Amino acid sequence: MNSIKRFGVSIESNLIDKFDRYIKSKNYTNRSEALRDLIRKELVGEEWLQLDKNAAGAIVLVYDHHKRELVDSLIDIQHDYHKIIISTQHIHLDQSICLEIVVVKGKINEIYKLESRLKSTKGVKHISLSKSTLAEDI
Ligand code: NI
Repeated sequence: MNSIKRFGVSIESNLIDKFDRYIKSKNYTNRSEALRDLIRKELVGEEWLQLDKNAAGAIVLVYDHHKRELVDSLIDIQHDYHKIIISTQHIHLDQSICLEIVVVKGKINEIYKLESRLKSTKGVKHISLSKSTLAEDI
């Protein structure tokens, strides 16, 4: 368990007023928790710039399953990246549209390659990558 360190911060009054309005709108009960989250968010963003590092995340894609070639392509791609895919969840949004959540854990450059392969597959309507962390040191 990490020990807690306290530090003082000097900040312009208009900036802290704005920050206080921000943390209230986000339902934080104090500045410390809001500040910790902002620091972690920034550090996780930095992690994702280091392509040889490991991370975790989720790719969400939406597509029409009636396009058979598309479904086959998506499955082929996912098999190519089986080493970094730890789970896939498939949700039928309606008669034709599917949403898939592909949970990944592995080298960041491999995750980006997988995202790119899926994104460039013709017929995928939307794709997003949620960049998260293994939280080893934050
Ligand atoms: Ni489906």
